Amino acid sequence: MKRIGMLTSGGDCQALNATMRGVVKGLSNNIQDLEVYGFEEGYKGMIYGNYRLLTSKDFSGILTRGGTIIGSSRQPFKLMRVPDANGLDKVEAMKQNYYKLRLDCIVILGGNGTQKTANLLHEEGLNVIHLPKTIDNDIYGTDLTFGYQSAIDIATQCIDCIHTTASSHGRVFIVEVMGHKVGWLTLNSGIASGADIILLPEIPYDISKVCEAIDKRHTGGKKFTILAVAEGAISKEMAKMDKKERAKEMEKMLKQYPSVSYKLADDITKKTGYEVRVTVPGHTQRGGTPDAFDRVLSTKLGAYAAQLIEKEEYGYMVATVNNTIKKVKLEECAGKLKMVDPHDQTVELAKSIGISFGD
Ligand code: F6P
Repeated sequence: MKRIGMLTSGGDCQALNATMRGVVKGLSNNIQDLEVYGFEEGYKGMIYGNYRLLTSKDFSGILTRGGTIIGSSRQPFKLMRVPDANGLDKVEAMKQNYYKLRLDCIVILGGNGTQKTANLLHEEGLNVIHLPKTIDNDIYGTDLTFGYQSAIDIATQCIDCIHTTASSHGRVFIVEVMGHKVGWLTLNSGIASGADIILLPEIPYDISKVCEAIDKRHTGGKKFTILAVAEGAISKEMAKMDKKERAKEMEKMLKQYPSVSYKLADDITKKTGYEVRVTVPGHTQRGGTPDAFDRVLSTKLGAYAAQLIEKEEYGYMVATVNNTIKKVKLEECAGKLKMVDPHDQTVELAKSIGISFGD
């Protein structure tokens, strides 16, 4: 007999359902009596005791369904130790709900912030398994997160579509790609779609270098230029600022422009005179069905998590390391960010075929 809790927290992605299905199929295939409690809307459900008993029917037919059957919400880690408006101790409340349901463990699907709270619950004595979800692929300790490859496909398709219209009109196009503070999604969708310029948070750009790259293409006879720009891309000037100064500058910029891409577009037009258009695919990158790669990855991660639960091995993230599914101790990865190394081989090889990173 096993009683497990499950929750999906933070921004959603395509393969959350596929991963939960993997866990439950793995367990129900090997354990006679299994009870799965799904907490609604992430940690919120665990704090306020909103949960429902899920049956195998709930996990049937969801391999290809995006979103999450138990909902998600953002519950910032930094507020976990802060009582809610009614003075409720959130961590204590989560522990009480865990004990009330007599859970053997809680399976937590989420990104960086979610993982920090998962580690906190582990430190508080709960049995925790974390499954790394995010389109950003920024979780330290795993080469891959589920959702990432599906998001690459969507961002790539978006830039592919821009390609045809850009060539008709001879314009400069910016496609702003998600990724929060890291550039993995932009880097790989940019390469996959043949973007000419790729701007990442990890490689601050010099606007003169960006304009030079556009000019070089135009003088070389190309009528259009496509930039894949990470939503967290920053200029060299901003990168030099300290945290406080940068935040102030960012606030000022966001009063004038909806996002970094619009500021960049304005700067390019002012410097070169070219007509620039901005496309922001936004949350479409997290939507729709998981791609084949993610379905396989999620099934493997889920099945491995089920094995850990059977063996009662807790306090781990299930990770992909060098193409192998492994367990990684939560305390070794929680609170760390996996960023693109500016000298990553992918970056270097992209540069070698003429892609500009604006540096
Ligand atoms: O972490 C996933 C992500 O999609 C980031 O790429 C993006 O910065 C953020 O979430 C958007 O968050 P929200 O859905 O809360 O607007």
